[in-house]
Amino acid sequence: MKIAVGSDHAGFELKNYVVEWLKEKGHDAVDMGPFSEESVDYPDYARKVALSVADGTFRQGVLLCGTGIGVSISANKVKGIRAALACNPEFATLARQHNNANIICFSARFTDRETIARSLENWFAADFEGGRHERRVNKIEPCC
Ligand code: RB5
Repeated sequence: MKIAVGSDHAGFELKNYVVEWLKEKGHDAVDMGPFSEESVDYPDYARKVALSVADGTFRQGVLLCGTGIGVSISANKVKGIRAALACNPEFATLARQHNNANIICFSARFTDRETIARSLENWFAADFEGGRHERRVNKIEPCC
């Protein structure tokens, strides 16, 4: 699967881990930066990943920042993006099953490698359940 991965400086190290992990699992993972630990602004990288998922270049995305909150908020500003912050593997499963999330976000400061790996496994193993969840997801639209 084609996956775009991005972060800010706080997520830099874990972002590199995620890119390697995805490649090892056979995914076509593309690192969209940053490429050093120099301080950057998370909205820039979140937007880059979100736009590339929204336009269909990538099927899904992974974003990381210190808390995962900044990249989630930023990515969700792009039409068609449903970015979900996963605090544990169960969140990852439910974000796919119930929310049809197309970007998964992680906190680099409060989530360890093992949790991220298990979360990504769950994320790829889960499918959107549709039905009542589809009705709800279809209601997620900008309203003003
Ligand atoms: C950067 O210090 C930090 O604010 C950022 O990584 C993130 O946690 C924002 O939501």
